[in-house]
Amino acid sequence: MSCDSIAFKEAVQRRRSVYQINKKSPIEDKRLEEIVRTALQEVPSSFNSQSTRLVVLVKDDHDKFWDIVKDILKAHVPEDKWESTGNRIQGFRNGYGTILFYEDPEPIKALQSKLPAYADKFPQWSDHTSAMHQYMLWVALEAEGFGCNLQHYNPLPDQKASAEWNIPLEWSLKAQLVFGGVEAGAREGLKARDEISLEKRLFIHGASA
Ligand SMILES: Cc1cc2nc3c(=O)[nH]c(=O)nc-3n(C[C@H](O)[C@H](O)[C@H](O)COP(=O)(O)O)c2cc1C
Repeated sequence: MSCDSIAFKEAVQRRRSVYQINKKSPIEDKRLEEIVRTALQEVPSSFNSQSTRLVVLVKDDHDKFWDIVKDILKAHVPEDKWESTGNRIQGFRNGYGTILFYEDPEPIKALQSKLPAYADKFPQWSDHTSAMHQYMLWVALEAEGFGCNLQHYNPLPDQKASAEWNIPLEWSLKAQLVFGGVEAGAREGLKARDEISLEKRLFIHGASA
């Protein structure tokens, strides 16, 4: 993966949900593209479906996406609740870019026809495939010095995004990874996660002491 700058374990430990982000990118756009290409080339997919489609929006296009979300939400959210919602969306807009994670239903349908015994499982595995891309890119971008957070405003912006960036309407938008420069002190100010004890979550059998 594209974590050349720091070791894999350190990158995994560094990843958090970082909301105080700005428009300063720690890397060139070319490097960003290289990382996203690596994700598409190296992240596995169920039955090698390669169903993930990534749309990367930076700078003005990133702003435009969050303006679309804001305008749609404004029409739905009651006036007295708007301030916090509006501030939250503005926080995402303050970032440098957003990766839109889509899944293309065509390879999934093809697999369902080819392997009917698994037909009902393929949509779920398509979601898993998307999640693998999301996690890899979240870790990789944080390794490069970005702060990221993962959002789910789909399906609200689906139609307008499709028209704006020529995205096939059949593609299913699963998640949005927002990224940007990390505001001073933002990472240090993150609260420690509440952790459910590993004893309740990890079960190893048969390992040597
Ligand atoms: C599948 C998944 C969905 C998530 N959805 C959202 C979301 O819609 N909005 C959000 O702000 N954070 C979202 N998060 C972030 C989690 O709340 C966050 O990762 C978790 O609380 C642990 O905090 P950390 O990311 O700082 O380690 C999501 C995370 C995962 C893995």
